[in-house]
Amino acid sequence: MIKHIHIVYAVVNFVFSLKAFPITFAFQNFKKMSEKVLVIGSCGQLGTELVESLRNIYGEANVVASDIRKSNHEVFQTGPFEELDILDKNRFTEILQKYQPTQVYHLAALLSATAEAKPKLGWTLNMDGLFNVLDAAVDFKIGRVYWPSSIAVFGPNTPVDNTPQNCVMDPNTIYGISKLAGERYCEYYFQKRGVDVRSLRYPGLIGHKSDPGGGTTDYAVSIYHDALTTGKHNCFLGDHTMLPMLYMPDALKATLDIMHAPAEKIKIRSSYNLAGMSFNPKQITESIQKYIPGFVTEYNPDHRQAIADSWPNSIDDSEARKDWGWQPAYDLDAMTKDMLSNLAPRYSKNLSL
Ligand SMILES: NC(=O)c1ccc[n+]([C@@H]2O[C@H](COP(=O)([O-])OP(=O)(O)OC[C@H]3O[C@@H](n4cnc5c(N)ncnc54)[C@H](O)[C@@H]3O)[C@@H](O)[C@H]2O)c1
Repeated sequence: MIKHIHIVYAVVNFVFSLKAFPITFAFQNFKKMSEKVLVIGSCGQLGTELVESLRNIYGEANVVASDIRKSNHEVFQTGPFEELDILDKNRFTEILQKYQPTQVYHLAALLSATAEAKPKLGWTLNMDGLFNVLDAAVDFKIGRVYWPSSIAVFGPNTPVDNTPQNCVMDPNTIYGISKLAGERYCEYYFQKRGVDVRSLRYPGLIGHKSDPGGGTTDYAVSIYHDALTTGKHNCFLGDHTMLPMLYMPDALKATLDIMHAPAEKIKIRSSYNLAGMSFNPKQITESIQKYIPGFVTEYNPDHRQAIADSWPNSIDDSEARKDWGWQPAYDLDAMTKDMLSNLAPRYSKNLSL
């Protein structure tokens, strides 16, 4: 009798486990479809690609792209787009009331080189924009906020190799100072106002789908375009300027991973160190030469050299690995191969990759 009960129990369990799978799957999909995501500063280098990834996850209608300017990129034709200057609180409120987002990705910023040229605007946009978003998260009970920081938070007295999560941070650029202040504000709003804000200190981002927006690491994007067009790159940094970098697919993965991680896994509420690879202009040139042997780089450092010199060579991202399982996929050669194979058709080039 007891044996029979066990058999019936096992059969019932098996049948329910088969049924539970589609129910769980459907529930997860329903949960994703019930999210409403707002991306601020969506037409830049990161936003263009992030909007595409978010629309694949949450559905096109559930991801609202916004920016102070319009973009012709095809991704912005696939779902809602709103013109928004994040410094215009009334317009921001209108958009929040209209869409009632459950998640906000705040990407609008003036990057390092541009902020040095326009320091007041750099400070105002980078700080007031963030305040507006954090205050809105409190007032509109926004579930999760993402705000990127940068390796620019480090400065000349920071240890340059394998830079730890916590160390001397004395940024000497407007961009770096605003990012460090922003990190402190994020942690403050988490602790004092209960905002679930998450952040990554991106290294230089490299991608082929969108143009960079005025950073000190931009050369590592234009070098691939030059390799496929003129065969010659005029580098604004010296040949041995080592900097931490991250390929865009890895940056997108890290961003989505930290935003999808359970809240209790996010132990750092200022911003996580994040690393992919480190290289200098000479090494990326050599990596490209493996596929385009005649390619040359000339070195003519300009004002951006001083900014690069104040930043680390490499980053220790062990906290991100430990807390929410961060793991990059691309090294320099893998990125070069992928960049060239994606860009070659644009310039009608046939490379054996
Ligand atoms: N690209 C990198 O290498 C890098 C590295 C570290 C951190 N970050 C950070 O990632 C975020 C995104 O960077 P990105 O490379 O996409 O920058 P980007 O300059 O390419 O894009 C920024 C976008 O913000 C928009 N914007 C400017 N002022 C605005 C305003 N007042 N209101 C609304 N939108 C406005 C711009 O039109 C632009 O489309 C920024 O916070 C940046 O500091 C980027």
